[in-house]
Amino acid sequence: MTNNIYFIANWKMYGSLSSINTLNKLINLSKLKKYKNAIIIYFPPFTLIQNFINKFKTTKISVGGQNCHVVEDYGSFTGSVSPKMLKDLGCKYVILGHSENRIEGESDEDINKKIRSALNKNLKVVFCIGETLKEKRKKITFSVLNRQINKGLKGIKNLNNIIIAYEPVWSIGTGLIPKDKELELNVIKIKKILSKKTKLRLPILYGGSVNNKNISNLKNITGINGFLVGSASQSSKKFIDIIKKTIN
Ligand code: 13P
Repeated sequence: MTNNIYFIANWKMYGSLSSINTLNKLINLSKLKKYKNAIIIYFPPFTLIQNFINKFKTTKISVGGQNCHVVEDYGSFTGSVSPKMLKDLGCKYVILGHSENRIEGESDEDINKKIRSALNKNLKVVFCIGETLKEKRKKITFSVLNRQINKGLKGIKNLNNIIIAYEPVWSIGTGLIPKDKELELNVIKIKKILSKKTKLRLPILYGGSVNNKNISNLKNITGINGFLVGSASQSSKKFIDIIKKTIN
């Protein structure tokens, strides 16, 4: 891999204040010249965002929110967080369209509204797409990705701040990863769908059971610009290992 490589840590609904103390080694690593092309972004739960931002203040490591509301600024939406609130905290990114939220009922249309709102507030969007096991078995992966991309990005002219994260749903938290050929083919499909929408070459990340063992193989997959890591990112040791094995 050349150029910038994304290493994204999605902590989901895990982590506590004490977990922040485990990040010192990662911070040291991020300052080394060898890793200047590593774009490292943490997505802690909302409750820890401020602490992560303070921790990473003098580093190049960014912080983002794991979701946001469709309304940009303020509103009577109990339990929700707006793009403006994330931005005001110092977040640079937001994850949208994660399958764990799609499963809870988030539609392509909801995701499209959220992406627009987030972009309006100058947040960069990690836009998650991916097929379920049922869809894979029915061999409709291409049409699923096509629908998710076209509906999710509908009407959005400037895709400059969009990062695509391809996360097959059947791969998340299962230890299963697609075969090399299957993954490469799906990345090609994604690029083809995107090429009809934009001349930009959006970064495409892979997510789903990435760990410090399978990374040695995954890093060789053609067309991937980085990784969206769930459970393995909660261990600084494993996350550092993932970065080191990718950039060696
Ligand atoms: P795991 O790495 O735990 O499979 O999670 C992937 C994911 O959902 C990242 O967003």
